[in-house]
Amino acid sequence: MHDRSPVCNVDREILMPETRKKIAVIPGDGIGPEVIREAVRVLDRLRETHGVELELTHFDWGADKFLKEGISLPEGALEMLSSEFDAILAGAFGDPRVASNKHAEDILLGMRRGLDLYINLRPVRLLDARLTPLRDRQPADINFVVFRENTEGAYCGAGGFLKKGTPDEIATQEELNTRRGVERIIEAAFAYARKHKRRRVTMADKSNVQRYGGDLWQRVFKEVASRCAGIEANHQYVDAMTMFMVLDPSQYEVIVTNNMFGDILTDLGAALQGGLGLAASGNIHPGRVSLFEPVHGSAPPLAGKNVANPVGSILTAAMMLEYLGFDEASEEVERAVSETIARTETTRDLGGTLSTEEAGAAIREKFEKQNSGVMKSRIQNSGVRSQNE
Ligand SMILES: NC(=O)c1ccc[n+]([C@@H]2O[C@H](COP(=O)([O-])OP(=O)(O)OC[C@H]3O[C@@H](n4cnc5c(N)ncnc54)[C@H](O)[C@@H]3O)[C@@H](O)[C@H]2O)c1
Repeated sequence: MHDRSPVCNVDREILMPETRKKIAVIPGDGIGPEVIREAVRVLDRLRETHGVELELTHFDWGADKFLKEGISLPEGALEMLSSEFDAILAGAFGDPRVASNKHAEDILLGMRRGLDLYINLRPVRLLDARLTPLRDRQPADINFVVFRENTEGAYCGAGGFLKKGTPDEIATQEELNTRRGVERIIEAAFAYARKHKRRRVTMADKSNVQRYGGDLWQRVFKEVASRCAGIEANHQYVDAMTMFMVLDPSQYEVIVTNNMFGDILTDLGAALQGGLGLAASGNIHPGRVSLFEPVHGSAPPLAGKNVANPVGSILTAAMMLEYLGFDEASEEVERAVSETIARTETTRDLGGTLSTEEAGAAIREKFEKQNSGVMKSRIQNSGVRSQNE
């Protein structure tokens, strides 16, 4: 196994490690419940093997509830999440029965924006050379993280129509870039680089065309970089970056970019590391309740068939554990996942023959038990609650 790269403990020392943490679990739609079930089983097993103290509360927010009750994100949900929980573990949202996708937008974008989760942290890490579609690339060649701005940019919903439905129709779609928003995501990328001994931060933009927003990103990037001696500040236009990510991904250590470019680049990143079924992400506001979710969507054609890859969700749970201060348990999950992939004990998308449940079980079987009296008392203190609201 190659060196593990810690992914998300940005300022997480604000949170106290080694204490009981409260997790809100929102499986969502489609394959969400199936893959999140495996992630939860991993967390349950870690209670026994590593004494990780977690209290899990399940929420049934998603398409079924929306269709039955008209409720997407329940009233008061954001206040409850931020006051009562340390982290949120979510599956995926999206259902063909809800053509407007309103419930998914309310729940997911509602949490990202409402909880001000301004960092979308997406690691791109090749766990086994056979998984990448790139020729002759080794795990050491593909190992970087993307800091995607998560609360503004082109996803702010600003714009409108003029003369809608006529041949003269005009549609505008605005992009929002605030000084504060740009600065905090760039600072987070440099802070991460410093903490994890990464030597280079590369910013992707389109400042040659997007004169105003691009100009702000350029100025702030230079200012922040000037305060971070010892870390190389690199810049690429986003179109060139898509090319270089394929031709020479080894040059990237930390990438920082806006909401839309980050969205697109990380799907390419997911492909480089073996597919969407593997990709994990964190929506983070350091020191506050943060949301962890696999990068993939609800994949309706796979739902209910026990074939979806649970690894994206399980690695997402590992990111969450690291954020909460359970570093050892997080490393154990990544080690176990790498081991199953090396033995092709995987679902079909990664070349194996296992079902979702079998792939999850194969990972859990790899956990090495840690024995200590302290662990036993921690296990007795942990528990699971279920709450459908
Ligand atoms: N964060 C989210 O909740 C999120 C993200 C993307 C899409 N969506 C929603 O999901 C629905 C489907 O969207 P889509 O098809 O564009 O994206 P998707 O990620 O659901 O699926 C894209 C492709 O990847 C495959 N795939 C995804 N996850 C997989 C897994 N765990 N194992 C194996 N294969 C996997 C799918 O079979 C499909 O071929 C839509 O309603 C969309 O809006 C939600």
